[in-house]
Order: sequence, then C-alpha cells, then structure tokens
Amino acid sequence: MRRLRVAAAALACATAAVAGPAAQDGVYTEEQAARGQALYDEQCASCHGPIRAIVPEVAALLGDHTFRNTWRGRPLGELFAFIRETMPQDAPETLTPAQTADLVAYILSGNRLAAGETPLADDPERLPHILFER
Ligand code: HEC
Repeated sequence: MRRLRVAAAALACATAAVAGPAAQDGVYTEEQAARGQALYDEQCASCHGPIRAIVPEVAALLGDHTFRNTWRGRPLGELFAFIRETMPQDAPETLTPAQTADLVAYILSGNRLAAGETPLADDPERLPHILFER
C-alpha cells in the first residue's frame, strides 16, 4: 500500500519536474559521500557488494545498469525513503536521516553522478523534486 502511494507521488512529481534539478547537477557534497562510504562498507556491502564492480562477475548491485534503469527519472526522496524505511534489510529503520542522506550521496557517487557544493537535504520532504537522473 505504501509502495503504491509512493509510486503515485513519484509519477506526479516526475511529470511536474521535467525541467527541474536532477542528480547529475551536483546535489550532494564529497564529505557526505565519504561518510556514506564508511557506513556502506560497514552496513550494506555484506549484502550489496562493492558499489562499483571491479570484476565483471561481481555485480555492483547499487551502481549498475539495472539499478540506474530502476531509479532513472524517479525523485531522490523516494530512494531516501526506501533506504530509511527498509534498509539495512536485517535492521530497518535504524539509520538516522543524516546517515541516510550520506548513503544516498555515496550511491550517487557510485553511479558516477558528480558531487557539488550543496549538501543533500536529510529530509525526504525536501527531495521530491530532485530526480535520480533525467
Ligand atoms: C541483509 C541484507 C541487506 C543489507 C545489510 C542491506 N540490504 Fe539493501 N537490499 C537487500 C535486498 C534483499 C534488496 C532487494 C529487496 C527489495 O527491493 O525490497 C535490497 C534493496 C536495496 C535497494 C534498492 C535496490 C534497487 O535495485 O532498486 C537499495 C537502494 C538498498 N537496498 C540500499 C541499502 C543500503 C544503503 C544498505 C545499508 C544501510 C543496505 N541496503 C543494506 C538486502 C540488504
């Protein structure tokens, strides 16, 4: 039910925000991504593997083509909410909003979306208009 509502909101947002900012415009800082990396190695890598595949046989689950196809055009607020509410899968809802923003930043960097000057907000309500990628 929650997933459905999120999807409907995302659709409305994506349509309204075609010309708005997207994650390739530098929407997080290097510092956030660096903190996110430490957290990722500690809490996410055991299931998701490295964010960038070093050898082709090891899939980069959160930085590969399939991942980008899943999230392209969807608001970052949705990715933020998904992580905060369901990850780590063995301990959901244990991440703080700031940790979640750091992880989103690290995932964006792992998808080769460059950092910028402005930190990513640690509140999904303030992220709905920023798309993962146009
Ligand atoms: C115990 C294993 C486990 C851990 C630890 C874990 N995840 Fe996951 N994660 C999963 C599984 C399984 C899925 C796919 C299930 C789903 O979509 O609901 C998933 C899906 C995801 C997705 C969506 C992937 C996609 O292709 O759309 C994201 C983003 C994500 N996890 C982020 C994280 C982050 C960030 C952490 C660390 C804080 C984390 N996960 C820790 C098991 C885990």
